Amino acid sequence: MTGTWSEAQERLQQRERQRQWLTWRVLRVEQESRDIRSFYLQPEEGTPVAFAPGQHIPVGDPLQVRLPMGSFTLDHTSDRPLVLVGAGVGITPLIAMLREQLALGLGRRIYLFHGSRTLADLPFQHELAELQQHAGGLLSIHRALSLPESQAVQGRDYAFASRLGIEQIKATLPLDDYDFYLCGPASFTQDLYEGLRTVHVPDARIHAEAFGPSTLRRHTDDNQPTLQQPPPASEPVPVYFASSAKEARWAPGGGTLLELAESRGLSPDFSCRGGSCGTCKTKLVSGQVHYPNPPAELPEAGSVLICCAVPAQAEDGVQAVVLEL
Ligand code: FES
Repeated sequence: MTGTWSEAQERLQQRERQRQWLTWRVLRVEQESRDIRSFYLQPEEGTPVAFAPGQHIPVGDPLQVRLPMGSFTLDHTSDRPLVLVGAGVGITPLIAMLREQLALGLGRRIYLFHGSRTLADLPFQHELAELQQHAGGLLSIHRALSLPESQAVQGRDYAFASRLGIEQIKATLPLDDYDFYLCGPASFTQDLYEGLRTVHVPDARIHAEAFGPSTLRRHTDDNQPTLQQPPPASEPVPVYFASSAKEARWAPGGGTLLELAESRGLSPDFSCRGGSCGTCKTKLVSGQVHYPNPPAELPEAGSVLICCAVPAQAEDGVQAVVLEL
């Protein structure tokens, strides 16, 4: 941990706050597009109420929530032009970045690319128009529709009648040095990452979050994986869940440590199940792990993201994994 003692203390407290469940109330619900709905929440004191996934949530209902986690956040130390690229609901973290960047008033140039099937699938159009007006020429918006409606007008409602990809971005951006932020389905994010690397954008300039149980596979300029780690175990490994006094046996090809814990009747916290959010972070008491799809950001030493980790091969044979679960 770097910085002063008080900064380190503040970061530890922030991590602790992120793990707590808070009770907030649903203030209003807005339909942003055909598939996307926004929930506006307000903190409240009172008795916590559990939220069952799939439950319908009327306005006024209390909801248990956690503070945002993960590493897909704006780099405030950079003053390079910003390129935000989202597909479908991938616009949601990007619009938060956009609001934040414009509110900072730093005069940074911003290009927003958004892809969807149709005009009716594009969310936040009213807010984006307002932000663009407020940005005073700093924000340009480029939409790509793969199946535009007959009444949608190219040049007015959208720029490209195609799926969004590297070709549309190359055709739009003037030659410059940019920071890229990508969010969307795994194949979209991976294709875009590879396209940017092909035109020599450094790995460190590409920030990305992919949906689903698959994270971005990164590589360095000489095509090496960016993470050096021990290989996955090639033989069965005992796994002990210390807090619940349970044990299990992991076998090669047998899924993640989260799946193993669930198969033993445990219910660890999780959210994305893809290495993006940090919700499943668990203390690694002993042993080593391997990430087949490395997470967006590795947890600190002594912790493991169990949703995307499996036991690693020890140099001297089988080494048990002990988790504080
Ligand atoms: S990192 Fe999101 S559940 Fe594991």
